[in-house]
Amino acid sequence: MPDVIMPRFGSNSGQPTTRRDGIAKVTGTATFAADNQPDRMLHAVYAPATIARGRVTALDTEAALAHPGVVAVYTPWNRPPLAGDPDAKPFMFAFRFEALQSDEVRYSNQPVAFVVAESLEAATEGARLLKPQYEAQPARVGLDGNEPFKPKGDAPFGLPRDFEHGDVAAGHAAADQALDATYETAENYHNAMESHCLVAEWKDGKLELDIPTQAVVLTRGAYAYYFGIAPGDITIRSPYLGGGFGSKAIANGPQILAIMAARELGRPVKLMFRRDQMFGPTGHRGATRQRIRIGIDGDARMTVLDHESLATTSSFDDFIEPAAYASQGLYNAGALRSAFEAVRVDTGTPGPVRAPGEASGSAALESAMDEMAEKAGIDPLDFRLRNYAETEPGTGKPYSSKALRECYAEGAKRFGWEGRPLEPRRMQDADGKLVGWGMGTALFGAPMFAAEARATLLPDGTGLIETAAADMGQGAWTALAQIGAYALGLPLDRVEFRSGHSDLPDGGVAGGSGHTATAGGALHAAGGDAVAKLAGIASADPDSPLFGTGNTGVVARDGWLVAEEDDSRRDSFADIIARNGGAAVVGTGKAARPPEDAARHAMYSHGAVFAEVKVDPELFQVRVTRMVGAFAAGRIINPRLAESQLMGGMIWGISFALHEEALFDKRTGRIVNGDFAGYHIPVNADVTGLEVLTVHEDDPYVNPIGVKGVGEIGISGSVGAIANAIWHATGTRVRRFPIRIEDLL
Ligand code: MOS
Repeated sequence: MPDVIMPRFGSNSGQPTTRRDGIAKVTGTATFAADNQPDRMLHAVYAPATIARGRVTALDTEAALAHPGVVAVYTPWNRPPLAGDPDAKPFMFAFRFEALQSDEVRYSNQPVAFVVAESLEAATEGARLLKPQYEAQPARVGLDGNEPFKPKGDAPFGLPRDFEHGDVAAGHAAADQALDATYETAENYHNAMESHCLVAEWKDGKLELDIPTQAVVLTRGAYAYYFGIAPGDITIRSPYLGGGFGSKAIANGPQILAIMAARELGRPVKLMFRRDQMFGPTGHRGATRQRIRIGIDGDARMTVLDHESLATTSSFDDFIEPAAYASQGLYNAGALRSAFEAVRVDTGTPGPVRAPGEASGSAALESAMDEMAEKAGIDPLDFRLRNYAETEPGTGKPYSSKALRECYAEGAKRFGWEGRPLEPRRMQDADGKLVGWGMGTALFGAPMFAAEARATLLPDGTGLIETAAADMGQGAWTALAQIGAYALGLPLDRVEFRSGHSDLPDGGVAGGSGHTATAGGALHAAGGDAVAKLAGIASADPDSPLFGTGNTGVVARDGWLVAEEDDSRRDSFADIIARNGGAAVVGTGKAARPPEDAARHAMYSHGAVFAEVKVDPELFQVRVTRMVGAFAAGRIINPRLAESQLMGGMIWGISFALHEEALFDKRTGRIVNGDFAGYHIPVNADVTGLEVLTVHEDDPYVNPIGVKGVGEIGISGSVGAIANAIWHATGTRVRRFPIRIEDLL
């Protein structure tokens, strides 16, 4: 077989193709999970606990069952057994959850009963008629709810580890100037537009699920465990997700109850969470309190960066928002420390929420950097440049690529940072609004997970690419298809992409900002494999112009194999296949990062975010009027989609800085703003003047396609940039997020 020259991307960024599923989505023809209505389908509603801690002592199941249309009521006292224990943690990403395994109430909105009926209305009314009685205990909420402890348990994803590099005490002692500041961040709930939902149907002992999932094959394994069946006996259809943000990679109790009810009743069951029910069993971002100490020498170089984080976790599992990680990979300091503690509260277990750890950690770190620059009397961007890490702090590893300097330069230029007064309260607009400018650095890891793909060259000269990836709205249907088409040497419109289905090769997890790199890496490898096989056929075929190409190599381009060194020697895919029996040529591939590259290099996406705010001097209403984010994330497959992802992250930054916060009633432990009227997120009127730049970055190590992630990094840096701009406008430092009007009075 000749040495096939693998398809390569000609330039650093690909085509800005519009979403291939866009028209189907805006015309309503795209089928989301809850759009499915199989015959004889029943509707389910779960009854949420209205206390946060204690026991449920009675449920009026008779009243519920007497209501017309109600078919079944499941409670802690009659729930049929599950094969797998919801309190066990038998696989990766397993969280403990509540599926009526006991009468214990561990948080508000946990399911205490599950009602199935002929209509949604009947199920809703049935759940209301249950009128649960409780034995309530005082609930613990907030960071002061309980004694802090050092988590050691079997947390999903592993626990954050304390990190220390260099002599931290000496770093503190050597400082000419020091900052010691404590920041707090609020609980955030994912709240995807499409709430959690599913339609479950059993057919001859096999399970079919229409369910939005960020990880088709992984979550299939979870359902297989809880129901004691083989993963191969479960079909998952998940073509589209209306957002996920981390919450849709994990099984939860109400889902399991819906699947169980469908099995018991022998009919399809649909469950869709109400908005208020999204504030409980589906994960959230824990609150944090972070103490950051920075020391600097006479040249404003950091002698120490010391970051301690306390985060809330539940009473029954150990996920910790890993906020202090934010300080480990970014700035060069003489000594570095990150330390973690947790406090148990009576909420559902926190979980990964878009930019887990990094969002809240960066909010504190980038605020602290600004405060330190202020003390040193230097420009905050200059301060960051003085402490620029040329190699990864702590490990000394070179970065696989790091165009952060270019992000700073291009972002600052675009924003017009130069000439910014150092002192606060120096700028006003024509209406008398106080104007402030702030900035923050963005950092996010560039992980790669496991994924597989298949790529097929068909006799008619078209291609088929397949991997069970997840499109949460980020554009996977498009960007992954672009990678697969490129790898096959075919134009996008001659390639069919099958995805979002459990019959396909495992596309890995749409999470950790690694989906394009991972599923895309697998598609790239599969396409290369198919092309290599086709080239082998051509080279061995005396009738092919490529006969005996041997080691000269061929490339695949526009449906042709072309000899690299002589483009007149070419043969079309369709002709090669036709002359050789007409069988499709199938390639397979896996995502891969060479282990030696992984060991030798530190891998991150980077960015710089600049923000302008205007603050009313009397009402203290804050408006973010402009933001510029400049990001370096390796090869950008589709600039339109990547910029949209980065912008979405920056908008979450506005949300984190100014809006989002779950508020608890301390008497009951219940969330008082569990809906979109009270749980604020930015609307269009809050989002103006956002600009995203991507900075050229070639990364030969991160993976064969040179792709890092863009899904989460937009939040990082943005929160600090806004907080710092608010200080610059008003002279007031607010160290608690979200920043509210009353904090500025
Ligand atoms: Mo995410 S929080 O990696 O889906």
